[in-house]
Amino acid sequence: MCGVVGYVGENNSVDILMDGLYSLEYRGYDSAGISVIENDSIITFKSEGKIDNLQNIINKNKKIESNIGIGHTRWATHGAPSDINAHPHSTARLSLVHNGIIENYKDIKDKLVKKGYKFISETDTEVAANLIDSLYDGNPLIAIRKAIEIIEGSYAFAIIFKDKLDKVYAVRKGAPLIVALGKDGKNENFIASDISAVLKYTNKYIIMDEENIAELKKNRVAIYDKDLKEIKAKVSEANWTLEQAEKSGYEHFMIKEIHEQPKAILDTIEPRIVHGIPDFKRDNILDENFWTYFDRVYIVGCGTAMHAAMIGKRLIEDNCRIPVECEIASEFRYKNPILTDKTLAIFVSQSGETADTLAALNLVKERGCKSLAIVNVNGSSIARASDYVIYTYAGPEISVASTKAYSVQVAIMYLITFKISLARKLKNEKEIKILIRNMLNAIDSINKLLDMSEEIKKLCVDYKEVGSIFFMGRDLDYYQVMEGALKMKEISYIHCEAYAGGELKHGVISLITEGTSVVALAIQEKILNKMISNIKEVVSRGAKVLLFAKEGMNIDKDAYDKIIYLPNIEDMFMPIASIIALQLLAYHTAVVRGCDVDKPRNLAKSVTVE
Ligand code: F6R
Repeated sequence: MCGVVGYVGENNSVDILMDGLYSLEYRGYDSAGISVIENDSIITFKSEGKIDNLQNIINKNKKIESNIGIGHTRWATHGAPSDINAHPHSTARLSLVHNGIIENYKDIKDKLVKKGYKFISETDTEVAANLIDSLYDGNPLIAIRKAIEIIEGSYAFAIIFKDKLDKVYAVRKGAPLIVALGKDGKNENFIASDISAVLKYTNKYIIMDEENIAELKKNRVAIYDKDLKEIKAKVSEANWTLEQAEKSGYEHFMIKEIHEQPKAILDTIEPRIVHGIPDFKRDNILDENFWTYFDRVYIVGCGTAMHAAMIGKRLIEDNCRIPVECEIASEFRYKNPILTDKTLAIFVSQSGETADTLAALNLVKERGCKSLAIVNVNGSSIARASDYVIYTYAGPEISVASTKAYSVQVAIMYLITFKISLARKLKNEKEIKILIRNMLNAIDSINKLLDMSEEIKKLCVDYKEVGSIFFMGRDLDYYQVMEGALKMKEISYIHCEAYAGGELKHGVISLITEGTSVVALAIQEKILNKMISNIKEVVSRGAKVLLFAKEGMNIDKDAYDKIIYLPNIEDMFMPIASIIALQLLAYHTAVVRGCDVDKPRNLAKSVTVE
């Protein structure tokens, strides 16, 4: 939520900040703004709505000569999307952008009002700007340090001061922020919510530790710890490429990312298959007892990550006979979960910054349980906080609707399942090798599914005007329809409900009438006849069923209105392939309905607030 950028160097800061904001727009698009220093004044531009609106305002203005500034793209929390609530927020002496939520903003505001500070916006961020201003006596480090001792909540701040014309300051807690370093000793440095915003300029970056303060000049970056002592920070190198963070000829990031899935999955699993069997030594899981010590597993995540967790639960329970609880992070964190020293808690997150998932992880740590994170973003908070981390190598996922991140999470669930089976001697190496080979075949067949994009697109015309769609599936297909329905809801704004095939008749079937749209998955052979019966129950009540079945299945013609046959893959691995069809269905439907596919309304990519 909210994207933050900062620049100091020798190039035009406006262009660089705007570039960065366009890359971070997926984090929020309620408003955008920049503050830059020209000569000795701070000039601010801001606008409600998407970044194009801000660009239009900047274009209408005279060209700004500036080499230093900060920028922000907003996902509104405190105060509606508006020009006034847009960041940066400024005082006479400084300008500040913020990602996060200041929980005690009201108390701070009341005290500042008594001191004579005036507020013009409804944001918590303006409170931070005024607080730092009130503590400022010419030393930004001291003012920022004092302010963050008072502020409760989460923040990633970038700040410029009117009397420090050559410096940008940054600090974070509970929200992501990196400092990126000019390439090949170039005289420039950057601040960004994530590396994708500056990949065009550099791939070298420092992950900021919480509450450390960064001071950036064009030729130097200094990082200060809580005692304001300068420390040596570790410089990392991103292996994400600029091409991965660009549309590269695709109309939307979402369709590009759907097509990237075979590669993303292979990039993620191949390094972890050694001599045909799963191996997590590269993830520093060196002790084989890790896979055998626990007698209960929790898998925790939100949204799409939660759906990957559900597949994980099913695979581990079916194959390893260990009880697995799947929990939505926002619920888990306020429960009293049964955690013992024999519990393994797995946290699934693309961004590695989701506030609820991070809080759930902290709860598990407090209780002394081992934690394992499955995370896509290198060095993210969840990755750093957990005992072990298995990184997925999907590359940057820019589209707000998650696709490739889901597939790689699911792929890791298979590998973990196989690893546990092997470690617990439930299967031998030969059996695991066969399973892995079958899994690789399933991944191979994703390409066939991608080739079906046009065929699926034609069907989406049927959904141009519909108000709701029911999704149904059984067994592993049930989790897939949940994810398919979520994709459809978030990007096409069609109300969708996902149901287990056998469950509809326990209530929801009352909503099925003549012409109701239903998308059904009938792919799991062992449950096929039951599923077809469930489908007929809705067909006989007038539903128009789009059925996804599997090549070679003999399906009665009266069980569907339209049918798509997916490649014939072993049931167990079908989720790897079938989700592609549902992603394509959601994508093409959203396009047909004229929706902003990559930036659906009200959403943001990384949910760093509760
Ligand atoms: C849906 C989607 C969200 C995320 C959820 C968790 O397409 O993207 O449901 O899956 O917000 O985000 P991460 O995985 O970053 O923790």
